[in-house]
Formats: sequence, structure tokens, C-alpha cells
Amino acid sequence: MHTTAQQQVPHLITALPGPQAAAWIARDEQVISPSYTRIYPLVAARASGCTLEDVDGNVFLDFTSGIAVTSTGHAHPDVVAAIADQAAKLIHMSGTDFYYGPEIELAERLARLPLGDGPNKVFFCNSGAEAIEAALKLARYHTGRQRVIACYGGFHGRTFGAMSIGGSKAKHQHGFGPMLPGVHRIHYDCSRAELEEQFATCCPADEVAAIFVEPIQGESGYRVPSAGFLPMLREVCDEHGILLVVDEIQSGLGRTGRMLAVEHFGVTPDIVCLAKGIASGLPLGAIVTKAKHMTWPPGSHASTFGGNPVACRAALVTLDLIEREYMANAAARGVQLAAGLKRLAGDATLGLSNPRGLGLMQAIDVLEAGEPSGHRRDAVIQAAFRLGLLLLGCGAAGVRFCPALCVSAKEADVMLRIFEQACRTTSGNT
Ligand SMILES: Cc1ncc(COP(=O)(O)O)c(C=O)c1O
Repeated sequence: MHTTAQQQVPHLITALPGPQAAAWIARDEQVISPSYTRIYPLVAARASGCTLEDVDGNVFLDFTSGIAVTSTGHAHPDVVAAIADQAAKLIHMSGTDFYYGPEIELAERLARLPLGDGPNKVFFCNSGAEAIEAALKLARYHTGRQRVIACYGGFHGRTFGAMSIGGSKAKHQHGFGPMLPGVHRIHYDCSRAELEEQFATCCPADEVAAIFVEPIQGESGYRVPSAGFLPMLREVCDEHGILLVVDEIQSGLGRTGRMLAVEHFGVTPDIVCLAKGIASGLPLGAIVTKAKHMTWPPGSHASTFGGNPVACRAALVTLDLIEREYMANAAARGVQLAAGLKRLAGDATLGLSNPRGLGLMQAIDVLEAGEPSGHRRDAVIQAAFRLGLLLLGCGAAGVRFCPALCVSAKEADVMLRIFEQACRTTSGNT
């Protein structure tokens, strides 16, 4: 297992932010877009596995993996070696217009993802939002239909198509309208009756190109649907010739203990959207679909950097490590984390509730005066940071735990101990 040489993690040697971090943040404020949502004053310098050092030499335990991205841990030596080797040979040639091996090899690999019978094909891009845009365009093109159905609470990215099908926070759309027309929404985990009502009242089923769904909703709180929801969507799609598009950008490629999170629900999608963890930190996105659906002609969609050879080499090593070792580890550590969070939720003095998740997509809600509280959740995350633990929020009052898939049992225990301490220091009127 890929671990760090650090003796003690976390290990803080300055007040936070330290002097170097404070100086960088002052410079950042002058030149970086204010649209970013920095949650605490962390200025990263280097990282390995689940350990991250800031510019002042403070060492943190990272349970964010850069928002569920560094799946094999920060700077895995095999990933670094593949990147260095490929960079010395060929950094770029644009796979849209030319051929090169790493892109083809990675497509062969991703084409083996479980999408039911028949050969699959892959389209490469650079990010999650771009994967969603590609899926939207392909679904419209292939079906000749314009409408799409998406979920309240869904988050798919911030480009126009992705933003238009999002349903997690109004501020993502505020001031940017008009959105893409023809987007209908259903409640996540809804009954078949809700879809039927849409079809009967405002959304003719034979005009719907695709249903977009996150197998586990990420941004809006690591919500795991009931067992029947995704199979119900599959059934409805089959009945009406609609494509089922799963956004596995956060949940996919081993994070939940399976290659795809939809596998937990026995569902095979028509289009899978991937990004985040695919290349352990290099920018890469992809959609995978049945070859028979990939009917768009040359010139209809492409991206200069999509399928960059260096990112593809990083992804090939990442997938090797995930399949060989880290997916099983994600499942085991997920069980450990879930048990730990359940134990913490059972201690009424901590003010926590609703532990949930699959594999290394775990979350818990933070309470104040017995009610879910975004305010106290933010305070807990700040307190954890000041104790050397990096966490992220999700949903209205959730804290998410999405470490690298290589996280060790010891690191999971240390995290649980610090998180408990952070809750105690902000227990307030729980
Ligand atoms: C489920 C899901 N879809 C799409 C995206 C957008 O990905 P990106 O930020 O790479 O565009 C995200 C990012 O958080 C996500 O979690």
C-alpha cells in the first residue's frame, strides 16, 4: 500500500494560517476570481497519499482528496513515474485529429466498464462538466429528441448544459439565465408515479432524450437512493426509448467499492460520465456508451485537450491500482468509516445524525439544538482544520468523508478521533 514517510500526521507547527500561507492568500485575493469557495486558509505545497503539507510545513490528514479526485492518493509513485515517462515522450498531439497509443489503450480499458451487452465506445474531454455536455449532446443527437429529465438536488457542473440540468443550489444559476430549455425535474428517489405525472402533464415521454442521475447524489449531501429508484428509472427508460445517463463523476471508478456505483443497484446505464478520480489528479473526463449509441459523425463533437496522452497514462496506472488493490480497500475502509460514524452519531453529546454512504463516499449531518445546521457544520469543519484534518461539507448540514482510495485503517481511525474532537469543541447547544 502507498503510504507516507511522515512519522506523525497531522503535525502542526504554526498558528493557522501560518505566515507563508497568509502571504499567499493576500496575493490570491488580488488576482483570483471571487467565484471560488475557499473554506479554510489552506495553501498546499506538497502531498503524498492522504498526507498534505502546507507552505509553512504544517502537515494535515487529507480526507478530501482534492474533492474526490486523487483516487490513488496524492503523488502515487507509479502515477508520477507514468506522467514523467509520458511527458518526456509526447505531451500533446490532440487526439481529436491524430492518433496515439495511450488514448486508445485507455478507451479499450474504459470500454470494458459494465454497460450490458455489446461493444462500447469512449469520448474524451477534460472535466466533469464537459463529460455532461458531451452526454447531453450525444443523447439529443442520437435520439433526435430535445427534452431531458434531471433530479432536484443534482449537481453536474457549471457549464451551460450542466448548470441547466443542476438542481442543488439556486445560486449556481442565479444571474446566468436563460438556461437550456426542455429540462424537467423529478425528486431524487421519487416513485414511478412522479415520472408518469410528468409524462402525462408537461413532458411527452417520446420527446425525452435522456434521464440524468447521480447514483449517489454528491454535492447535495451524499444521498444514497432506495434500492428501487435506479431500477425504476431503467425500466421507464426502456419502455420509452430514453437513454439513462449516470453521472459517476464523483461516485465512479472504485470509490464506492465497485467500479461504478450503479452496480450496487443492479442497473446498467446507457451513458456513463466520468472525470474526477479517473487520472488521480490530472484533468481528464470521459463518457462511455454502447457503440450503437455513438452515432454522431466526424466533426460533431471534440475537444483539443481531451484524451491528452499524459492524462491517459496517469489514468491507465490509476485504473490498474484501483482494480488490483484500492477498490477492495475502498470497500473495507468504507465499512470501517460507516461503523465509526454510526458510533459517533449514537453519542448524543456530539450533535450528529444520519450517517450514510457507500464505500468512501460517507457523510454525516451536524446538528444544533437538535436540528441539522449548516452553521455548526461549517464550524466543525473549521475546528477540524485547526486540528490538522481536512474535510469538506455537502448538502445543507453534511460533512463528507471522501479520502483517497488508498486510505489506511490507521488513517481512518485518526480521522474519526479528530472529527470527534472537532465536534466536541463546537458542541454548543446540541
Ligand atoms: C457528480 C458531479 N458531476 C459533475 C461535476 C462537475 O465536475 P467538474 O468540476 O470537473 O466540471 C461534479 C463536481 O463536483 C460532480 O460532483
